[in-house]
Amino acid sequence: MSPTTHSDPETKTGSGIKRADLVIVANRLPVDRVVNDDGSVDWRRSPGGLVTAIEPVMRRNDGAWIGWSGGADSDLEPFVEDGLSLIPVPLTEQEIEEFYEGFSNATMWPLYHDVVAKPEFHREWWDAYVRINKRFAKKAAEIAAEDATVWVHDYQMQLVPAMLRELRPDVRIGFFLHIPFPPAELFQQLPWRRQILEGLLGADVVGFQRPGASQNFVRLVRQRVGHKTHRDRIYLPDGRVVQAGSFPISIDTAELDTLARSESVNARAAEIREQLGNPKKVLLGIDRLDYTKGIYDRLRAFGELVADEEVSVEDTVFVQVATPSRERVDQYRMLRDEIDRLVGRLNGDLGRIGSPVIHYMHTSYPKDEMAALFRAADVMVVTPLRDGMNLVAKEYVACRYDEGGALVLSEFAGAADELRQAYMVNPYDINGMKKAIVTAMHAPPRELTRRMRAMRKTVAEHDVKDWADRFLSVLADAQPMHHKQLRPTQDS
Ligand code: F6P
Repeated sequence: MSPTTHSDPETKTGSGIKRADLVIVANRLPVDRVVNDDGSVDWRRSPGGLVTAIEPVMRRNDGAWIGWSGGADSDLEPFVEDGLSLIPVPLTEQEIEEFYEGFSNATMWPLYHDVVAKPEFHREWWDAYVRINKRFAKKAAEIAAEDATVWVHDYQMQLVPAMLRELRPDVRIGFFLHIPFPPAELFQQLPWRRQILEGLLGADVVGFQRPGASQNFVRLVRQRVGHKTHRDRIYLPDGRVVQAGSFPISIDTAELDTLARSESVNARAAEIREQLGNPKKVLLGIDRLDYTKGIYDRLRAFGELVADEEVSVEDTVFVQVATPSRERVDQYRMLRDEIDRLVGRLNGDLGRIGSPVIHYMHTSYPKDEMAALFRAADVMVVTPLRDGMNLVAKEYVACRYDEGGALVLSEFAGAADELRQAYMVNPYDINGMKKAIVTAMHAPPRELTRRMRAMRKTVAEHDVKDWADRFLSVLADAQPMHHKQLRPTQDS
């Protein structure tokens, strides 16, 4: 960790931080803070896909990343980690409660996910959201070089584009929403709906995962803010044009494919099957423990298949990994209790000695263990009630270089637009889910190969670098009067 300390007003801020031509603004930094036993602090690269996507273009442009460390730290200086320039934004304990756990994850998150849980509207949470967005916008305004590109990410930062534009009209601003954007009928519940739309309109390009989300946004801007729109363009009274569009995010397909082919991963996959008692079929679910992921209904569907004797616990194993997430938010606490109870009931009622119905792990695993699980699984069951994309579905496909395995996929995940050869389900239809799981379990190998081959082609052609390059090139074209151009990921 090495703070940057120089001063030259052209290229450095007042506090001596180097100004950047590319600035990423995201709620979290791309590294997690780890406190060692002796009290010393280290930073570990966080497993998320965003950093993989953006890293190459960041390195080429000497970019900077503005984000929160994940803890209540007030004294973190900007630092360089593995060549990436990172600028922490501090949050106090109360701000974490009101901005992160409150407005971001108990208001926006459920509202944008089809109100699967009831969103809570609290004026003091909104005030905190405005305050923190302002803090991020100010930091971006300070760090961005003249005519820089600033790429703002996700639902925690929706006011940043307009706030930043006011402070720095010279910069080019892109915004990408990683989660769904709801239809007008749900969005308009939000007491601060107009402020959110106006916040987003500060960007030159507003990107979404799916075309439907982009259409929802444009329609809302027309209805609620009254701006003129044509297709995916919004015409502002000051003459600016905002471009909306869909940019489905992806994974580092080649990296995962290589990992999946490694001897150690395959040995571990064999070991996992062995430890599970060498069953005929292994079914797998891997999700953040979130009520949008449909874990409860999925396990219920599998439990019914066991109870109906359509599958036997002696030869079929269901492994569910649930990664701990947002554990202090009430809805997440309640979900954990519900899943604990359901797994306990299913195993208690239907399990046999040595053969539980569900092998349930409440933990997070490193990449290689995940790849081994994907390699070991005959059927991957991904059944969110609503999901922006769902990268787990794409990761499973990337790991199946043998062209085997079946993917059962919710039609309400963004990934369903691309992975069309999956066994598609409506996650609210328990009987439909049961049917799809059984069909996937018994599909002939040739059928599985046909489907997997097509899906692998899709994830190979559309990987995460392609996503970042596409977004940045649309952003570069959005304001031709800007003269400073970013260098793309690949030399051309
Ligand atoms: O999918 C949206 C998202 O915010 C991701 O960017 C992130 O990896 C995940 O949810 C977990 O979020 P949090 O930062 O709240 O742990």
